Amino acid sequence: MAPSTAMQSFLVLLCLASSPELFTVIHGQQVDSGFISLDCGIAADRSYSDPSTSGLRYVSDAGFSDAGAGLNASVAPPYDNPGMADRYSTVRYFPDGNRSCYTLRPVTPGGKYLVRVSFYYGDYDGNNRPPVFDLHLGVNRWATVNVTAADERYILEAVVVSPADFFQVCLVNTGLGTPFISGLDLRPLKWTMYPEATINQSLLLLTLSRPSATFGFNRYHFWPLGYPLFRYPFDPYDRLWQRYGTVAAWNNITTSATVDVSDVSSFDKSTDILRSAATPVNGTRIDFAWGPDSFVNNDNATYLLMLYFAELQRLPSNTLRQFDILVDNATWNGSQGVTPKYLSAQVVKRMVKGSGQHTVTLAATTDATLPPIINAFEIYSVNSMTEVATNDADAKAMMAIRTKYALKKNWMGDPCAPKEFTWDDLNCSYPPSGPASVTTLQLSSSGLSGVVDASFSDLKSLQHLDLSNNSLSGSIPDFLAQMPSLRYLDLSNNKLSGRIPADLLEKNTKGSLVLRIDNNANLCGNNISTCEVENKKSNKILVIATVIPIAVATLLFVAAFLMLHRMRKRQDKWMANPSSLNSPRDRPTIFENRQFTYKELKLITSNFREEIGRGGFGGVFLGYLEDGSPVAVKMRSKTSSQGDKEFLAEAQHLSRVHHRNLVSLIGFCKDKKHLALVYEFMYGGNLEDRLRGEAAAATPLTWHQRLKIALDSAHGLEYLHKSCQPPLIHRDVKTRNILLSADLEAKIADFGLMKAFANEFVSHVTTMPAGTLGYLDPEYYNTSQLSEKSDVYSFGVVLLELITGQPPAVTISNTESIHIALWVRQKLSEGDITSIADPRMGGKYDVNSVWKVAELALQCKEEPSRKRPTMTDVVVELKECLELEVLHAMSYSSSAQSSANNLSGTCVNIHGETKANDCPTQQVMLELEQVRVPSTTHEGPTPR
Ligand SMILES: *[C@@H]1O[C@H](CO)[C@@H](O)[C@H](O)[C@H]1NC(C)=O
Ligand SMILES: *[C@@H]1O[C@H](CO)[C@@H](O)[C@H](O)[C@H]1NC(C)=O
Ligand SMILES: *[C@@H]1O[C@H](CO)[C@@H](O)[C@H](O)[C@H]1NC(C)=O
Ligand SMILES: *[C@@H]1O[C@H](CO)[C@@H](O)[C@H](O)[C@H]1NC(C)=O
Ligand SMILES: *[C@@H]1O[C@H](CO)[C@@H](O)[C@H](O)[C@H]1NC(C)=O
Repeated sequence: MAPSTAMQSFLVLLCLASSPELFTVIHGQQVDSGFISLDCGIAADRSYSDPSTSGLRYVSDAGFSDAGAGLNASVAPPYDNPGMADRYSTVRYFPDGNRSCYTLRPVTPGGKYLVRVSFYYGDYDGNNRPPVFDLHLGVNRWATVNVTAADERYILEAVVVSPADFFQVCLVNTGLGTPFISGLDLRPLKWTMYPEATINQSLLLLTLSRPSATFGFNRYHFWPLGYPLFRYPFDPYDRLWQRYGTVAAWNNITTSATVDVSDVSSFDKSTDILRSAATPVNGTRIDFAWGPDSFVNNDNATYLLMLYFAELQRLPSNTLRQFDILVDNATWNGSQGVTPKYLSAQVVKRMVKGSGQHTVTLAATTDATLPPIINAFEIYSVNSMTEVATNDADAKAMMAIRTKYALKKNWMGDPCAPKEFTWDDLNCSYPPSGPASVTTLQLSSSGLSGVVDASFSDLKSLQHLDLSNNSLSGSIPDFLAQMPSLRYLDLSNNKLSGRIPADLLEKNTKGSLVLRIDNNANLCGNNISTCEVENKKSNKILVIATVIPIAVATLLFVAAFLMLHRMRKRQDKWMANPSSLNSPRDRPTIFENRQFTYKELKLITSNFREEIGRGGFGGVFLGYLEDGSPVAVKMRSKTSSQGDKEFLAEAQHLSRVHHRNLVSLIGFCKDKKHLALVYEFMYGGNLEDRLRGEAAAATPLTWHQRLKIALDSAHGLEYLHKSCQPPLIHRDVKTRNILLSADLEAKIADFGLMKAFANEFVSHVTTMPAGTLGYLDPEYYNTSQLSEKSDVYSFGVVLLELITGQPPAVTISNTESIHIALWVRQKLSEGDITSIADPRMGGKYDVNSVWKVAELALQCKEEPSRKRPTMTDVVVELKECLELEVLHAMSYSSSAQSSANNLSGTCVNIHGETKANDCPTQQVMLELEQVRVPSTTHEGPTPR
């Protein structure tokens, strides 16, 4: 067979096979999707279906309370009435702290929501002293909850627009007793509903109590006795419609016909709620009134009054129902009276100002022969959301930092707002308009351990970061050098190790950053390969491997051809003995990871609402843990009981693999019907998309970033190969499986999943190797001998993609594509590096560094495999390449400053030709002290 035909077959196979692997995003829609229903104070793992709402799922609030604050209690006899809805029998109370918050998520930024809180004191604390406390909607005051009777239920509702993708409800202790809460609900509304609710203005349902009604909840229907309360499913948005009560002077009209609601934005399908109306028995008018809301307590009140009308009787032609609406004795509807349409609802609404008493009268006009009617009404107090929250990114970063280091401070709710509740140990700036941002973070002596979390890098306005006197370990991350506002960074007295990022030292040298790093015993001290100078530019002559294109082409074809055959054989073998896939010797009996119940997964993913990916095994869904950290929940669709053992073995195995360059497994779920793995969510997406997707054009990766991504991934693979016994072989290394954090830290994903999902693998024989084909080690397929070197082979392809931006199959004409390695070899044999380097890098790279990586990549593909470098060799090589690039970049950018000494700011040159061990950290410190920022330009807080 001619090579070109072989190539075409290869391509066809590649295309056919890869299409099912493409990401598909599907949004599942369910009636109650997005409902969050919390029963406060029940056990953390409890949930139940609530009979009063046709089975809405109520779950424990434990995961939603910030930092897990609060304690649970049950209401005491005689208040523990078994006839009550379950959520009233327990409370969560907050004896500690001024402000205690719930963070509800996921919500859509800019989305409209109904928020409902309920309180039933029931003498849960045995003190018989009901408290008074404040309630906040996000950072704005909502109400003062004044509990006057132990046996009374208080229900408050608000219509809000969420500014962010989380929404907070806070209880504030005002010194009049311990805040508590019984229930908390969040319901998404359509954006067309309640247009008066905006990002700047929320609607608070009037809490004024009426003697005829059960509680102060001014959303009324007029059904007769026996229909006390409508909510879900009668109202698909689960609003509570209370019965107005029996008024002797009013009668009621009901119909069994359907009432059309197409003119009423509050409803989107016909509803029973409007199928009944009140009308006077004898008279010609209906009167009701309202006064100040003692909970909302607004001196300068504005109210939104919404009246619903629909004619329910087919009226003879010689009759007329017509009435005027008078608010505070003034006609409201102009000269035309209101005549409700037969079986078609309308809403008449209006803002009413003034904090005193207000009256509403529906009075028959002089022409009318029939009295007025009313089907429903709502009254809201309009509340300005004047207090501006912390900007979204900062708020999320702070929440992530709180979680990462398990900080127990007063860190609840919004970090900067309102001002009087600003979190301890941080300072914020409050611009005249727009959101607040975090400028100072003092986390000295705060017991921090683990690595310096990437979340810090999201604090774009942070000027002063003090992390001294903790137990932080790992290396100093490069992202610290990229933080745009950072002027002062104190990392002293930690356990940090490795080299100091060159960019950070450069900033320090240039005087734009004060850096303190003393007393970190391992910093830049014990690892020659990371700290040693690579001063002399590599003047090695780069030898280009000679290639035989036809041989490579044939090899690829053979690999493709053999694949199906072998997959099938493998399938049979695995079916017969699944455990042969994976036999870790020292399998721990107890999982280290969290075990999720299916219910929890449903909760954290909001009922699997947002699918972010799909593979052969099933869907991947975005979720949020209780602390708000995002996770990717990989569900395994399961049709038979086969494969459980392998799944568990794999989950166990993965749970022991921890490295910063491997995507962490957070937990798993295994019950009778469901298997799932829960991973950390990576904001930066996968490398393939970053190289060739939309993001590639917008913000192309620089060569420096590509090298760091290569090095990160190499570290991850090296760890799998070297630190695990027996070594773990990934077997599916490809750019799609390298995920990026927001600051482009690379992590290997899907390690071992192929093994875990043996069944799936088998049933997707034709699709599974798809993304893998271009990465496949031909030797492995020829011999079935698996070794680490197969990963090295695939990693070589990844390196070539990083250099060239090309996919594994490079299109060279309309009909022909060739493997990337072949293409690169051909080009390099012509001595032309610029023609292969990704044009998106704009020529900004050190040519030697690119040559070196290309050479390394091709070595990774050597045959036989023993000639390939190990991942450890690859790591060493890549580090050298990175240093070449750093030197290049610095000589490039430092022309403004005296060049020779200028490099002394880098880790590289501090040591000069001396051994790294001769470079005590004190000495580094000294050098850094000399270049401290002049105080005149230093805007941050004074360094200590
Ligand atoms: C709570 O309500 C009671 C009765 O209406 C009233 O006397 C008391 O002053 C209120 N307390 C606060 C703090 O508003
Ligand atoms: C309605 O009017 C009739 C006759 O005038 C009277 O007997 C009856 O008590 C009135 N009903 C009400 C509820 O006012
Ligand atoms: C409302 O209707 C019911 C039956 O439909 C009737 O028994 C009752 O008297 C009516 N009036 C009031 C004020 O409830
Ligand atoms: C009340 O509201 C009006 C406008 O709605 C405003 O001009 C006035 O200053 C407010 N008064 C107080 C005391 O807030
Ligand atoms: C409306 O008119 C009635 C009687 O004429 C009077 O008692 C009441 O105070 C008026 N209400 C307002 C808000 O002016």
